[in-house]
Amino acid sequence: MSTRVRSHAKINLGLGIGAPRADGFHALATVYQTLELFDLITVTARPAAETALRLTSNDSQVPTDGRNTAWKMVELALKTLGQTAEVAIHIDKRLPVQGGLGAGSANAVAALVGLEAELRAGDSASPLFEQKALEGWGTHKLSQRLEIAAQVGSDVPLFLIGGTVLGLDRGQEVYPLPDIEPVWCVVATPDVGVSTPQAFRDWDSLCVTEGLTSEASTAKLGELSRAYASAFAGGFPRGYRQEAGSSGVPAEGGDLAGPQESALVRTGISSWIQNDFERVVFPQHPSLAEIKRILAASETPEVALHASLSGSGSALYGLYLTREDAEAACERLRTVGVKSHLTRTLPRSAYWREMLSH
Ligand code: C5P
Repeated sequence: MSTRVRSHAKINLGLGIGAPRADGFHALATVYQTLELFDLITVTARPAAETALRLTSNDSQVPTDGRNTAWKMVELALKTLGQTAEVAIHIDKRLPVQGGLGAGSANAVAALVGLEAELRAGDSASPLFEQKALEGWGTHKLSQRLEIAAQVGSDVPLFLIGGTVLGLDRGQEVYPLPDIEPVWCVVATPDVGVSTPQAFRDWDSLCVTEGLTSEASTAKLGELSRAYASAFAGGFPRGYRQEAGSSGVPAEGGDLAGPQESALVRTGISSWIQNDFERVVFPQHPSLAEIKRILAASETPEVALHASLSGSGSALYGLYLTREDAEAACERLRTVGVKSHLTRTLPRSAYWREMLSH
């Protein structure tokens, strides 16, 4: 038997970056949002005397060894479980391979979900995966998974939450936010490669030029995380407040109930959420700034709810209230020869409902 799992893409609805840290990472404050776009991951696993992994893909650009995030995740999870198994993973790439959409990170979580489903099928007392509803993961099990995910990559843990997610620290510290109402999303995937490490290095140079100290950066990100929390959640979820540590998240919390009434529109967040990577990536790749303008339809600025680079790019996106507006954006991109994908934002409940539903 095998298990097929949908591995959804993400965008960043805003991304503030801090000064470089001694550990080689950068503190961040971001809001991740999952999309309907997905890759399909098929996992086949059975207990065996020794662990043996095999990874295949329909896309020759996907590494099929220990460099692959899905491979790393499965290896770490088996170690954590103290289990050995023969595992075959197939990655059916449907998402654009473009950076900024978290595709590899999502593949890792989908592989974990598939592995757990497979092991559970053979052993109902499997220690990691004893709950029926994925969305109802207990706090302990979830934190164990979050830890494994954070070891694989900074933007892997968000895919264990799904929907609208606040990301702090190096991006791996994640908190569910009330979902934004689903909106149309156009993802542009230009033929431009952006190196994330290079973008961070360029950011470091900018920090030096602008004199962004680590104190100023902590204050900036604290303020930003408070602003995200109040714009998206009307306050910060009480149950998560303590774990937020010194990030500056306000002590007075709202609650997490229900999708937020048109947060994107109501709060006018588009006027202030920024992706700091644009400041270093756009000067290097002016064509990406132009694509953002096309997505936003700058001659009629009210059309897009928001348009931005996603992560360090080169994927960009625009959000729209109507399908017509989104299709018009695809058409504008088509006329300048830029590939686009029409999709919708995916709330948390649908994210989990659709993950294994086929
Ligand atoms: O965690 P991940 O493997 O995605 O990080 C890849 C690289 O990106 C890191 O080695 C680091 O150089 C950079 N990075 C960073 N700050 C972050 C996340 C990643 O500097 N918050």
